[in-house]
This record gives sequence, structure tokens and C-alpha cells, in this order.
Amino acid sequence: MLLSGRGSNFRAIAEAELPIDIVAVISNRPQAAGLAWARERGIQAVALDHTEHADRAAFDALLADEIERHCPDLVVLAGYMRILSPGFIARFEGRLLNIHPSLLPMFPGLKTHERALAEGVKIHGCTVHFVTADLDHGPIVIQAAVPVRGDDTPDTLAARVLAQEHRIYPQAVRWFAEGRLAIRDGRVNLKDNSTSQSVLATGA
Ligand code: GAR
Repeated sequence: MLLSGRGSNFRAIAEAELPIDIVAVISNRPQAAGLAWARERGIQAVALDHTEHADRAAFDALLADEIERHCPDLVVLAGYMRILSPGFIARFEGRLLNIHPSLLPMFPGLKTHERALAEGVKIHGCTVHFVTADLDHGPIVIQAAVPVRGDDTPDTLAARVLAQEHRIYPQAVRWFAEGRLAIRDGRVNLKDNSTSQSVLATGA
């Protein structure tokens, strides 16, 4: 689990009673609240401060070595707010998941809620996807949509989207753990497809 801050998606996954062991939580920010929360629960928490490493590729190589020390089957980006270098992504491709606060491919990058409001979209949401070298464009595992209200601010919209993030990220991790995700031609197929791959949150 990689995170940079609050760690609410990490907590949602940790508390979802999934068939997984969280072997480590690593943050590029030593003060990340998510690290403290992990420590309190006896989950191994590691700080690797990126500000002490000027070179991104060198930092990412250190990060990748640290991750591999814990032998994870899956690397979960849960609010990890740094662009990953191509070398890092190549090392973990196919077992690297990210959550992004928009309905990709709309609004890749930052300030997604502000941009959604500025565009006047009527539906917004969040996406769990496999990470590829193409920033915020990897194969989509699951999305959740929320209606945009006339009186929404970036904060109210973010809160409604975040509630959906906490639903879909544990679901995506469960599917991965159960071996149900297959990537073909850049798309994710859900094996034994009895569950819908998208969730429309009504009235949320
Ligand atoms: C979440 O909203 C997540 O979607 C976003 O950061 C927040 C982290 O919150 N991630 C990105 O914007 C990645 N591009 P959390 O630390 O409470 O999980």
C-alpha cells in the first residue's frame, strides 16, 4: 500500500475484511496520517522521504526495492501523490492499482472536482485502474458515478465521490485477490462475471 496523506482509502481497504494481508504501508511523506494509523494497528509502516532524493528515477528504484522486500502480490496506490517513473511502472505492471477521483478518461491529473464543476458535467465519480506508463489512463477495473448537484462546491462533491471510492477500491482489491481480473487488449475482463463492473450511486 502506497500513500501520501490521509489514507482513508487505505483504511477502507484494511477494514473491509478482504482475503488479503496488508504486508506494508509505505509513504513518501513521513507525516502521513495513514502511516500512523497503520502503526497503531501493527501493520508495518515505512517512510521513504522523497525530499531527501533529488532524482525521481533513483527514488523510485529505492521505493521499488523497499516494496519488493515485502513480496506483495499487489501494489495499491491509495492517494500516492507522486508521478511514478516508467522504470517503476514496468517493474510492477499488471499488479499496480490506482484510484483516481474522476470518471476516467475524463479529468486525469489534479483538481478533478474543481474541473468537473467548471465543465458543468452532471455526473462525476471515481475510477480504479491498473497503472500503465500513460498517466491516469490504464485499464479500468471499476467506476462509481455520483450526480453533480447545482449547489455543489469542490468540497461537497469530493466528499460524495470519496464515499464511493471507499466502496469500489475494496471491491477491486477483492477481485484481484480472487484472481478475477484479466487484462486483454488494454481492457479489464471480470471473470465469472456475476457482478456489474460499474456502480451508479443513486441519491448519494
Ligand atoms: C483520493 O480522493 C484519491 O482518489 C486521490 O487522492 C485522495 C486520497 O485520499 N488520488 C489521486 O488524486 C491520485 N491521482 P485518501 O488519502 O484519504 O485515500
